[in-house]
Amino acid sequence: MASITTLPAWQALREHRQAMANVHMRDLFAQDPQRFERFSLRFEDILFDYSKNRITEQTMKLLMDLARQTHLGEKIEAMFRGEKINTTENRAVLHVALRNRANTPIYVDGEDVMPEVNRVLDKMRRFSEAVRNGQWLGYTGQPITDIVNIGIGGSDLGPKMVTHALRPYGHPNLRVHYVSNVDATDLVETLKQVSPETTLFLVASKTFTTQETMTNAHSARDWFLATAQDEAAVAKHFVAISTNSEAVQAFGIDRENMFEFWDWVGGRYSLWSAIGLSIALYIGMDRFEELLTGAHKVDNYFRTTPFEENIPVVMGLLGIWYNNFWGAETHAILPYDQYLEHFATYFQQGDMESNGKSVTRDGQWVDYSTGPIIWGQPGTNGQHAFYQLIHQGTKLVPCDFLAPAQSHNPLGEHHTILLSNFFAQTEALMKGKTPEEVRAELEAQGISGEELLRLVPAKTFPGNRPTNSFLFKRLTPETLGSLIALYEHKIFVQGAIWDINSFDQMGVELGKVLAKTILPELKDPEPVRSHDSSTNGLINYYKSIRE
Ligand code: F6P
Repeated sequence: MASITTLPAWQALREHRQAMANVHMRDLFAQDPQRFERFSLRFEDILFDYSKNRITEQTMKLLMDLARQTHLGEKIEAMFRGEKINTTENRAVLHVALRNRANTPIYVDGEDVMPEVNRVLDKMRRFSEAVRNGQWLGYTGQPITDIVNIGIGGSDLGPKMVTHALRPYGHPNLRVHYVSNVDATDLVETLKQVSPETTLFLVASKTFTTQETMTNAHSARDWFLATAQDEAAVAKHFVAISTNSEAVQAFGIDRENMFEFWDWVGGRYSLWSAIGLSIALYIGMDRFEELLTGAHKVDNYFRTTPFEENIPVVMGLLGIWYNNFWGAETHAILPYDQYLEHFATYFQQGDMESNGKSVTRDGQWVDYSTGPIIWGQPGTNGQHAFYQLIHQGTKLVPCDFLAPAQSHNPLGEHHTILLSNFFAQTEALMKGKTPEEVRAELEAQGISGEELLRLVPAKTFPGNRPTNSFLFKRLTPETLGSLIALYEHKIFVQGAIWDINSFDQMGVELGKVLAKTILPELKDPEPVRSHDSSTNGLINYYKSIRE
């Protein structure tokens, strides 16, 4: 297939980009009092304002043309129909089935997956209720007080992000911990905070072979047995979440204590499956289902809403506009909500593992840029760390700002101050400050001559820096479910347009294999000579100083 860069819409966007080179958003706002109405959308109580972008109606029209010329609509349908769109692994991509609250049949290989989805949801409900109401007892007859989720990547980041975000809904007597790193510090520091008698370990791994997770799980089991001294007690303190029942049994966890999911659930899209068990335990199954409902509503909306009014489609296209036509390499996610502390980290995996690809679905090398580098942290902290570069640096960094109108912690003026920063930043990034404005300000302060000339450039802000704003009423389970699903589908839109497989992760698999080759070499006391001189040098120096 010919590259997407040969499409008429791509060519037109290239030309349009030249025409937009010297257009400033400040002028676009001045010319059009309706700009906010024209370029903002609503989904339930989530307002998506994308008017502070370097766009005109013509830009959006051309981007929509690109979506149509790359057959986005057909690709969306293929996902929802359960087609095997993960072509390198020959798998369907059906996280939408996990939150299909309408329960309409969804078929994989001719079989409706919904009965199995519902069976596991029921099992999660029974189990989480038993733990939450104190019926599930540890081996000394005490109720569970601490949940330790052992998993990594998609088996860690999603549940961690969500339980953190939904702390106002958490069970008052349960604490949830996440152990992911194979660095023993992660496990050891967590185990210092818990007691074997009242701790429940969730070993969360799609494959149940991931080195980090299995190493941590075995060490946690040893730690537990050192006190319990009874293999039979393991059943009350260890459960598994996996697609691999043989490996779970080999680890010593009974099938009864296993929560299944399926190969059509990608790791980075798995928080909606049993991988979300720590969420259900913490906030309760009713709340977990509200999270699913929020995502399900977005799924329906994404599938049926015309592209022009479809938030994930617009998000995806705007990203492509900057990535492919303005050379932007990164995208910042900036939540003005401390509860969303892990939101950007979560979508680092979600986006970068999905769209960090260089070949098309046909196996051709791409001749255009694909997935952006995702980064960010909550405002206002980021303002005092990296916003300087976004305002005045040489790099273009499109940003997403997100905030709830209502805080779960309405203390004094904190939330109003927080939101004033949100609005001020997006406005300043858009408008900037002209040399004339700076000059007038300085003159009013009595500064003149040489000093004035020196200060004006340093205090000038170019502006024209693009931002999207998401403003919603309150961070509830349902709203969070919707926000996550909007971003997931944005990633889908971009991958579909770039014609890449957003659902494998061969690059990560390589790291897993390489580390396994080096491990025995580290155990061998002899110096190594089999690698390049740098790798040999590093390994041998490590061996010389490790004891
Ligand atoms: O990081 C690579 C990866 O394969 C992710 O896709 C996945 O989320 C993570 O490892 C963990 O894998 P598993 O759930 O099989 O332990």
